[in-house]
Amino acid sequence: MSTQTTEEAETEAQGSESPGDRRRAEKAREQSGAQDAVTTAEETVHLKVFRYDPEIEGKNEPRFDDFHVPFEKGMTVLDALMQARDRFDTTLTFRHSCRQAICGSDALFINGSQRLGCKTQISDLEQPVRVEPLPHAEVVKDLVVDMEHFYDQMEAVEPYFQTDETPSDDMEEQRQSRANREKIKMSTRCIWCGACMSSCNIAAGDNEYLGPAALNKAFRFSMDDREGEQMREQRLEHLDQTHGVWRCQTQFSCTNVCPKDIPLTEHIQELKREAVKNNLKFW
Ligand code: SF4
Ligand code: FES
Repeated sequence: MSTQTTEEAETEAQGSESPGDRRRAEKAREQSGAQDAVTTAEETVHLKVFRYDPEIEGKNEPRFDDFHVPFEKGMTVLDALMQARDRFDTTLTFRHSCRQAICGSDALFINGSQRLGCKTQISDLEQPVRVEPLPHAEVVKDLVVDMEHFYDQMEAVEPYFQTDETPSDDMEEQRQSRANREKIKMSTRCIWCGACMSSCNIAAGDNEYLGPAALNKAFRFSMDDREGEQMREQRLEHLDQTHGVWRCQTQFSCTNVCPKDIPLTEHIQELKREAVKNNLKFW
């Protein structure tokens, strides 16, 4: 009885193969791989995409269009939208840029939740995949919303570094402790996608509310030791208002949808505590 294992048999066979045999076997393996890819590509994804174009007669009534695009392993919602646009309807409009969850331009309402198109795998979703523009924002066309109000709220908290005193030497380093860096680390990850603002019921009902993204940005700077006490007090005073930190009702919707996993609600609660402390006077 032979005691040779399959592996040993294959190795022995390979050893006796001529270079021509090996090339033919290699080619056959490649062809079979390509065939598998075609078979996978024959599976399709069913998208239901929101459409609206206020400028074109006949398209200015909101509706959903169906698209069936070939599925590929690793396909994201953004990939599927691009396929739908490139293969079936070049007028389908949506924003995108980096395709790696960095630029924040493709936040969408996918199967009832705010998500980044480029970070959402089709295989994780139920079909048909329903794709809509971000709620609580004016639709410009199809999946594109007007981000003006969101940017206004972000700018209102002056989202840039400001120190109490400028160092005498321009080239002097502004050092930050490791502990302080850890404290603000998550807050620096914001990519300005607007998903949190869109998910927030309070922001939807109060146009003046700064909103979770702007408050997170304020947290990022007011907790940065390098800005100094005076600047920190000024920032907290600005947030300590009806449409600032006190509007948040800790619903956690922003935290749940943030694609960068920033603990937004937690940051807002810390700002509330700091605002109270900022108001305490001891004589
Ligand atoms: S906090 Fe998160 S959800 Fe909000 S804008 Fe920044 S990255 Fe987007
Ligand atoms: S395309 Fe840039 S975040 Fe998705």
